Amino acid sequence: MCGIVGYVGGQQAAPILLEGLTKLEHRGYDSAGVAVLGGSGVKVAKQAGRVRDLTDGLPKRFGGKVGIGHTRWATHGPANDVNAHPHTDAAGKVAVVHNGIIDNAAILRERLADRGVELLSDTDTEVLAHLVAASTADTLEGKVTDALAAIHGTYGIAVMHADFPDRLVVARNGSPLIIGVGDKEMYVASDLAALVRHTTTVAHLEDGELATVTSTGFTTYREDPGVPVDSGAKRGNSWGGMTSTGKEETTLDIDPADYDAGEHASYMRKEILEQPDAAERVLRGRLDERFGTAHLGGLNMDARDTRAIRRVKVLGCGSAYYVGQMGAALVEELARIPADAEAASEFRYRNPIIEPDTLYVAVSQSGETIDTLLAVQEIRRKGGRVIGLVNVVGSAIARECDGGIYLHAGPEVAVASTKALTNMFVGFALLALQLGRVRDLSIADGKRLISGLLALPGQIAEILEREDELADVAVQLAEADSLFFVGRVRGFPVAREGAQKFKEISYRHAEAYQTSELKHGPLALISPEVPTVAVVPEDELTDRNVGALHEIAARRGPLVVVTHKGVDLGDVEATRIDVPRNERELDPILLTLPLQLLAYHAARHLGHDIDKPRNLAKSVTVE
Ligand code: F6R
Repeated sequence: MCGIVGYVGGQQAAPILLEGLTKLEHRGYDSAGVAVLGGSGVKVAKQAGRVRDLTDGLPKRFGGKVGIGHTRWATHGPANDVNAHPHTDAAGKVAVVHNGIIDNAAILRERLADRGVELLSDTDTEVLAHLVAASTADTLEGKVTDALAAIHGTYGIAVMHADFPDRLVVARNGSPLIIGVGDKEMYVASDLAALVRHTTTVAHLEDGELATVTSTGFTTYREDPGVPVDSGAKRGNSWGGMTSTGKEETTLDIDPADYDAGEHASYMRKEILEQPDAAERVLRGRLDERFGTAHLGGLNMDARDTRAIRRVKVLGCGSAYYVGQMGAALVEELARIPADAEAASEFRYRNPIIEPDTLYVAVSQSGETIDTLLAVQEIRRKGGRVIGLVNVVGSAIARECDGGIYLHAGPEVAVASTKALTNMFVGFALLALQLGRVRDLSIADGKRLISGLLALPGQIAEILEREDELADVAVQLAEADSLFFVGRVRGFPVAREGAQKFKEISYRHAEAYQTSELKHGPLALISPEVPTVAVVPEDELTDRNVGALHEIAARRGPLVVVTHKGVDLGDVEATRIDVPRNERELDPILLTLPLQLLAYHAARHLGHDIDKPRNLAKSVTVE
């Protein structure tokens, strides 16, 4: 992984590819490269470091109207010039970029070496270039299909070949690939961000699909499973053995400005500030105030189906998992259905029991996270019903689910997720409301929740207005090497999300704990050097939480307390952050908001590249 761009048309490809790669930078990468196909064949420029360095170092004569580009996030071999993509065959006729992981790369490398092929890089991708070159098929489509038949693993690939100078062949299996339709020119990318300045008319490849892209259009197809492909047999017609999938283009309602940080110092700050509007969007048209319920047509479930659910299991990764824990609590509280959340990355490895009356909920901003996608596929294989809470329309997880709730947060570019997570929480509240109202949640309680939901956008804005005050607190926290984030019950996933955001962009060790568990071990670490950020809402546990604050203060641990106005912290010395009160079930998201700004300003104070945290990628499409 990480980012792919491609171009076929009437313009010089290199500037378009480089600009596209810049738009993918936020996803995280360590090296970049481009290849173009011109009169003198395939030319490649690639190096470790930034796209800017690649652009500066590009040879003067780098012409060609067909090209592919890539930002790499090292998986096989270190980040260096040789391992950067594109990779070529020995004759320099084939160039390949690849996202994903080829599981049998080691065996294939050995086989190629036995045949006398010299492999230059440590990567799994390079084998693809040699396999394409070695195929005896007489079309590029046939050669790519032969190569893919030999590999096991995941991929999004774009391939060009000097003998077929009018086209790119692309394929997808587990790693996203989108084709962008222009006017006598066509684009390819792993992420819409690289396309939107050129076109919003796109087609998404499905897993198992290939496409041929020329300047005048594209054709998608699947390898016909009935036709052997690994025999190297010559194909009679151009794409013998393949079935056209006749994919339709869709024009997306996207504002290219959403992919621009504008006057903001970073995408993360822009996206934090967009939350009031984003929260309003996810609610739009989904509240039934008369009956005190939610209206979620996309679930594809009628009242009887909904009523039959006996358990809810939420699956997501990272922050989506933590919001999933908040969501499971909402479902239990409002619908009184047993609910829990689990890391999707672990789920399928314990051979999970899939029950027909359980509703599985996959949560994902990108809709492409491979662990979540594979968990969904495991459930569906075993006959379970899965709905998705997904931000990216038409993404792999969205397509795989039986129904779902689109989050309408708008494009989220920064690696650290903020507005999508807020909308996930609101999405869960809507789901819990609908599940609750076909059970025992009264109409009065339904209406109470609806008032709370309608108040959220304004209350979020209120918290964001206090950015300067939060920035001061963040600067103090940034001085510590190690911090605790603590909370109880509803507050614990808030603490987990707070620690997650803090560690991923400030690189400080931030550990989340249940406040109740402190005295069972971690209290040993509390000292004047180790601050604690404590989540203390006004609820049935406030007194117990305040008791724990005393224990921390007694060990001279500095305290920042995220709480509600009026909560009496006694004589505990603490920096206090008061958030507005909502209905207690909805409080977790308001308690989370200040923690985003603490993380953001700590990272900013430390001078980190906030939108591109080290070692992290925006969507994790490899296991
Ligand atoms: C944290 C973060 C990650 C993602 C996780 C899941 O700020 O961004 O932990 O939440 O990788 O990603 P999605 O939601 O795209 O499935």
